[in-house]
Amino acid sequence: MQISLSPANLQSWTGSVLVVCLLEGDLETCLDQLEARCGGALSPSIKHQNFKSKAGDVASFQLLNGNPDKLVLVGLGERQNLKLDDLRQAASHAARASIGNEGTLGILFPWEALDCGAAARAIAEGVRLSLYKDQRFRSSPEPRSKPSKLELIGLPESANDQLKMVQPTCAGVELARELVAAPPNSLTPLALADTAAQLAKDHGLELSLLGKAECAERGMGAYLAVAQGSDLEPKFIHLTYRPTGPVKHRLALVGKGLTFDSGGYNLKVGAAQIDKMKFDMGGSAAVIGAARSIAELRPQGVEVHIIVAACENMVNGSAVHPGDIVKASNGTTIEINNTDAEGRLTLADALVYACELKPDAIVDLATLTGACIIALGEEIAGFWTGDDPLAEGLSHAANSAGEGLWRMPLHSAYRDGLKSQLADLKNTGPRPGGSITAALFLKEFVEASIPWAHIDIAGTVWSDKGKGINPAGATGYGVRTLVNWICSHT
Ligand code: BES
Ligand code: MN
Ligand code: ZN
Repeated sequence: MQISLSPANLQSWTGSVLVVCLLEGDLETCLDQLEARCGGALSPSIKHQNFKSKAGDVASFQLLNGNPDKLVLVGLGERQNLKLDDLRQAASHAARASIGNEGTLGILFPWEALDCGAAARAIAEGVRLSLYKDQRFRSSPEPRSKPSKLELIGLPESANDQLKMVQPTCAGVELARELVAAPPNSLTPLALADTAAQLAKDHGLELSLLGKAECAERGMGAYLAVAQGSDLEPKFIHLTYRPTGPVKHRLALVGKGLTFDSGGYNLKVGAAQIDKMKFDMGGSAAVIGAARSIAELRPQGVEVHIIVAACENMVNGSAVHPGDIVKASNGTTIEINNTDAEGRLTLADALVYACELKPDAIVDLATLTGACIIALGEEIAGFWTGDDPLAEGLSHAANSAGEGLWRMPLHSAYRDGLKSQLADLKNTGPRPGGSITAALFLKEFVEASIPWAHIDIAGTVWSDKGKGINPAGATGYGVRTLVNWICSHT
């Protein structure tokens, strides 16, 4: 989809679908202009559709003169409450109303009420991401037409700077969605590594891939213990983005990359939704998606490392026994009392590897615990960090991206729950506070001097029904937050 600003106005714009976003009270002042534009009386139909410009109100009109083919009114609610997220919601309504129409979609909205660049970006991202549909696995794609062009009407040229971020950012989000949605017989650890290799080749990133033997040489006994139960080889992926100019900040992103999580011998049963566990590589999808975006945006002054210890958690004859003791690459021994707490084992070695790069900060993303879903639901991810400036930076990045993110306590007293009689640590503690002990487990593998944050995306990675700009299925959560966070370092 092409995206641009249009210098036209309500009367002069031409295209196939015109969307007018209205604040409460603005319909009355606009009605004459709208009727002049559409050459007919709209009032009876507006009443009939019960459109009052409240947030979420939508009314649409098929126009007989075909100029445009369709007029859509979208309500934004009260001016004093207007937030970027209301524009994203409005964009999702506009996008849905435009399906079935080819040609140009034009959107007119009250950008003066907000920062116009941020508003343009929110609308444009909202439209493109709402129109996304994954047809890769159908034998023949469902016929579905949608606009090929989006025009934001009447905004000043200054909005262009932020608008330029939209296509690269959305390409990253869509890559993440595709990776997460791909079934586990297609998206294997090798396929994930191939995706990284293709990305490196197409967008000038550096790639280093470690196989099983190289990981063993590095002593990655926690990661390899998880991988050993699968017939598929593990792949340790390290992508690097280097800016052309001088480097001011060096950042590392680590993503959990379980292409399938059966639970191992502490097998997932009952309500554990084993059939969804292809999404257990959502953290890796977010960091690889962000790499895709960053590679295209090419921010100055910031070097970014993307690290994924990819494998499957399966139950062949060589799989880990509950009770096995393994050693991670920093020398820590771990008693695996639950093979279903595998993500933290793979992340342990990935975090040790990330620390060896001596970055200025590390952020990991992982579909780590069901407990985090219970705590925060499907619209908010939890994050843990001991570093207040990093917390501030991530919260700000998520907030401007419109991705829910809430800081959780890294309560060190709960570390006791991970004490093992035999080894340095157990991999799981008691059920209460399960997402906190998971974060505390990860902390054991991060050098204390390096600011680090862990984001649990177990709830946000997937949306059964879809919501707002996320169609049903994989959300691509995290990419937009990471892109904002990385770009805030330039
Ligand atoms: N991948 C799961 C976490 C998960 C569960 C994500 C449900 C999304 C939906 C993780 O590997 C896991 O199994 N965690 C266990 C930990 C437990 C054994 C301490 C969990 O949350 O049940
Ligand atoms: Mn698990
Ligand atoms: Zn898992």
